[in-house]
Amino acid sequence: MAGTALRGSIFYFIGSPVELGEASWVYIEDGLLWLEQGRVHAVGEYRDLIKTLDSSVPVRDYRHHLIVPGFIDAHLHYPQLEMIAAWGARLLDWLETYTFPVESQFGDPGYAASISARFADELLRNGTTTAMVFGSVHRQSVEALFIEAQRRSLRLIAGKVMMDRNVPDSLRDDAPQSYRDSRALIERWHGVDRLQYAVTPRFAPTSTAQQLEMAGQLLHEFPGIYMQTHIAETEKEVAWVRKLFPDAANYAAVYQRHGLLGRRSLLAHGIYLDDEERGMLAASGASIVHCPTSNLFLGSGLFSLRQARAYGTGVALGTDVGAGTSFSLLTTMNEAYKVQQLLGEPLDPFDAWYLATLGGAVALDLDAVIGSLQAGKEADFLVLDLEATELLRFRLQHCRDLSEMLFVLMMLGDDRLVQETWVLGSLAWARDDSMDSGGQADG
Ligand code: GUN
Ligand code: ZN
Repeated sequence: MAGTALRGSIFYFIGSPVELGEASWVYIEDGLLWLEQGRVHAVGEYRDLIKTLDSSVPVRDYRHHLIVPGFIDAHLHYPQLEMIAAWGARLLDWLETYTFPVESQFGDPGYAASISARFADELLRNGTTTAMVFGSVHRQSVEALFIEAQRRSLRLIAGKVMMDRNVPDSLRDDAPQSYRDSRALIERWHGVDRLQYAVTPRFAPTSTAQQLEMAGQLLHEFPGIYMQTHIAETEKEVAWVRKLFPDAANYAAVYQRHGLLGRRSLLAHGIYLDDEERGMLAASGASIVHCPTSNLFLGSGLFSLRQARAYGTGVALGTDVGAGTSFSLLTTMNEAYKVQQLLGEPLDPFDAWYLATLGGAVALDLDAVIGSLQAGKEADFLVLDLEATELLRFRLQHCRDLSEMLFVLMMLGDDRLVQETWVLGSLAWARDDSMDSGGQADG
C-alpha cells in the first residue's frame, strides 16, 4: 500500500496531562503526518519532514484543519440504536420499558446486520475509531457487529450480554449456554484483525452467582480478553445488589469474588462507589467509564473524576448510547465538563481531550497501538474542520492559546466538525463536502 502524507495542524498526547503537564502533549501548527502501511511512519514540522518525504508519496493539504487521534468510546450498546432518546424513565424502568423490548429483536440475524451497519457508520461519522460495545444476549448480534466492524477496519471490542435472571424470558440465557456462546465467539473472533472480545455480564442484578462464576472462568481460560459491565449507576440499583448478594461486602466485591476485575476490565458509571470499592478497582487495574450524557439523561447522578482518581482508578469516556444521547465524543467531553462543574471541579480541556484519546487507550490497555500519533502507532485519526460552523469559526479567532482552542472545540463542537475519519491509514469516512482525492500541497 502506497504511503500518504497530510499537512495540517496536529495535536496528540504522549502521556497524561495530569501527571506530565505540558510535557504530555504535542502540538504542531504546520505539521506533516506521514503514513505508511496503515501506521504513522513519521510526524513533525512540515518544513523539516517534507525534505525527507519520498517523492512518490502524495501530500494532502489540510491547512486550517486540526488533525487529532481517532476518538475512543469505551462504553456503548449497539442494539439500543433505535431507542436512543426515549422519554421520561430512570435506569431500571428505562431498561424494562424501552431497552429490553428493543434488544429482543436481535435474535434475527438480518435485523442485527442492518443495525450493525448503521451503528458502525455512525461511529465513523462521529470520529470514533475504537469502541467497546455491548451486543444483545444473542450470539448472532455480536457476530453481525464484528462483521460490519471488520469491513470498516474499526477497532472494536464487543461481547454478547450474559443475563440469566430478572429479565424477560425472551432475553434470558442460562449460565452454561452463556458460557458456550461467549466461548464460541471468542474462538471465532478474538484477535481477528482489529477485533477483540469482552465477556459481558450486563450487571450484577441480571446474573446469578453461577453465571458470574462462568464469566470469570472465561477470563481465566482466555488471557487477553476483556470484561465489560455496569456498576453503581443509581442508588436503587446499588440497594438491589445489596439485597441480591447479601453476603458481599459491596457491589465491587460481587465482581471481584468471581474473578471479573483485572487490567482489562471496564466498568461503566461508578457514581455511587465507596472508597473501599474505588481502592479495590484501582488495585485490580480495572477502569471506570464515565458516561456523562447518559448520567444526565437518566438522571442517575454526578460522577466525580477527582474522587475516582484519588484512588488511582483508571478512567475512560463513554457515550453509553442508547441511554447516552450522542455518539460524539466532543459532545461527551462537553457534558463531562458540565458534570464536573456541578461538583465544583472544572475539567481541564487537556484532560478532557486526553480522556477521549490516549487516556481511553490506556484504560483499554491499547496505548501501545492507538490513542496517539507517534511514529509506529496505528494511523487512526480525524481531520477536524475548524470552520464547521460560523460561530466556531468566529470564536476561534478570539482564542489566545491552545488550551482555549481545545476548550472551544469541545464546547461548540460535535459531529459537524469531523470532516474525515481515517482508520489504519486509509480514509474511512468523509463528510459530503470533503475533498475525496485530496489537494496537492504547494509547499
Ligand atoms: N445497566 C444495566 N444495563 C444497562 C444499560 O443498558 N444501560 C445503562 N445505562 N445502564 C445499564
Ligand atoms: Zn451502558
